[in-house]
This record gives sequence, structure tokens and C-alpha cells, in this order.
Amino acid sequence: MAQIEATVAAAMRRPEGIAAIQDLLACPVCSGALKVEAEALRCAGCGARYAIDDGIALLALRGSANTWGSGQQPETSESYQAEYQTVERAAAYNHGYQRKVHKRIGTRHEWRIIRRHIDKVGRSRVILELPCGGGRITPSFADTADFIIESDIAIGQIRYARATSTLTTPRAWMTASAFHIPLRDASVDGTVCIRLAHHLPTPAERERLFKELMRVSRRFVIVTFFDHHSLKNLTRRMRHPFDKKPPKMTMTTDRVAELAREGGGRLVAAPPLNRIASGHRFALIVKDGAA
Ligand SMILES: C[S@@+](CC[C@H](N)C(=O)[O-])C[C@H]1O[C@@H](n2cnc3c(N)ncnc32)[C@H](O)[C@@H]1O
Ligand SMILES: [Zn+2]
Repeated sequence: MAQIEATVAAAMRRPEGIAAIQDLLACPVCSGALKVEAEALRCAGCGARYAIDDGIALLALRGSANTWGSGQQPETSESYQAEYQTVERAAAYNHGYQRKVHKRIGTRHEWRIIRRHIDKVGRSRVILELPCGGGRITPSFADTADFIIESDIAIGQIRYARATSTLTTPRAWMTASAFHIPLRDASVDGTVCIRLAHHLPTPAERERLFKELMRVSRRFVIVTFFDHHSLKNLTRRMRHPFDKKPPKMTMTTDRVAELAREGGGRLVAAPPLNRIASGHRFALIVKDGAA
């Protein structure tokens, strides 16, 4: 823990970039220490080399349950992991959010909910945002951290976020899978994970996500999920025999509370984004013993 404290302090002195947080990093394959070498990171455990492309550390280990030893699953999110690898696809997605007025208003509402959660946990030294997407959510908490690690499985999203963001908080950029977060245990104050869980089709993937978020976070996790008992999901299930729309990938608040406990924390709040128009809830999980 003392070493992590020292690393965080060093990162604060250095302006930006992956080198500033090298001692917080862990190999996504073997959890070994990673050291910066010329334009790459080298794992001291398994010897793997991870390229740094234009300042973005390429640490994403793609795949699903087979990559963490839970065997093959009937369905996976692997095709979704491939969706925004080009900056053009990422730009199309993010422009969609910016152009539509109701989406812009919706984003502001998400910011307010996240801000209320952040106000409860206080200022942070390091926050991990995973997935950062095109940077839509980052402004809601950027001024409450000394350093932000921006990550997404898709390099296109990261390139887009980096090119368009005007925030001044020191940051590092990396590709990462939320199933294999390339960070040491309890290495960041907290993690912000918005709109990923409802893209994961199996309980195995959703549980793995929560386990990883809880593992790397020392004090808190802010994470969204699609509420199984929401009006939105109820009406979808009622219409299903007629419109055959696939079921939403949902979780119950009770299950989220259980996963929080299993990860050594407590579900403090899970307000809905909108009780009628949306099924998303924004959970705040606080780790036991966190100040
Ligand atoms: C709906 S977007 C949300 C982005 C951002 N949090 C927001 O709310 O605007 C979901 C993001 O998850 C990323 N993603 C998909 N699977 C992932 C995984 N296993 N690990 C990390 N990111 C993933 C996608 O590339 C995409 O950028
Ligand atoms: Zn390794």
C-alpha cells in the first residue's frame, strides 16, 4: 500500500501519460508488474510486451469467460468488444449523442447523478474510467480527481475522446478489458463504469465485471445496470410475444448489492435515471473501511 501511495504521489508530480502510473499497472494475463521500455510495457512475470501506440498503452485482452477459466458461455459480448475499434465508428456513435437534444439533456442528468455519488465519497487522487467511450461522462467528475485513467476496450473510442476533450486534469490513456483490468488490487480510489453492464449477455460476464471493478478500487465504484424490475423492462417483457424484441440484459438491485458484498463493499444507493423512460440505475458501492 505504501508503494502505491508513493506512486500516486509521483504521478501527481509528473504531468501525464502511462509512465506516471506504471507502478499501478499489472499484466492483464499474469498480474505481473509492468515496466515502461522504449514505446512499450514489459511484464516482469510472463515477459509479454504491450505496445504504446501514440501514447495509448495497448493493454486490452479481448475475449470472454474462456479467458478467465469459466469455460465457454452460450453467448458472449465479444462482437461488442470489436464495435468501436476505428475512430470513424466511435465518432458516429458519439455524434449521435451530441446531435439529439433529448440525449444531451439525458447526459446532463447522468452527470448530476454521478456528481451526487462523487460528493458522498469526496476527492480522489486517481479515478479509473472504464469504459470511457468518447469521453461523454468524464466532465462530471474530472475536477474531483488529481489524476484520471481513461480506458476502453476500443482504441477508436480512446482516440476520439483524447482528440475532442478539453479537460485539464492529468490523464493516462490505455485500452483495457473490464474483464481483465490491467491494474493492481486497490490501486485506484474509485472506478466509474457507465453503460457497460447492460451490454453483457450472461451472468458470468456481469459477475466478472463487478469482481474486477471491486478488485482495483480502494474506496468506491460507480456502475450502471439495467434494472430487471424497471417499468421499461416490464413493458418490454409484456410486449415480447407480439414484437419478439430480444430481452434486455438486466440485473436486480438485490443481485448488485450481493456482488458489492462479495467484493468487500456495500451498495449505498442506486437511483434510477428515469423511472418511466429508462431502466438504467446508477449504483454507488463503497468499500468496507473506506474513509
Ligand atoms: C455504451 S458505451 C459507454 C461509454 C461511456 N461510458 C458513456 O457512457 O458514454 C460502452 C463502451 O464499452 C466498451 N466496451 C465493450 N466491451 C468492453 C469490455 N469488455 N471492457 C471494456 N470496455 C468495453 C465499448 O467499446 C464502448 O465504448
Ligand atoms: Zn504477464
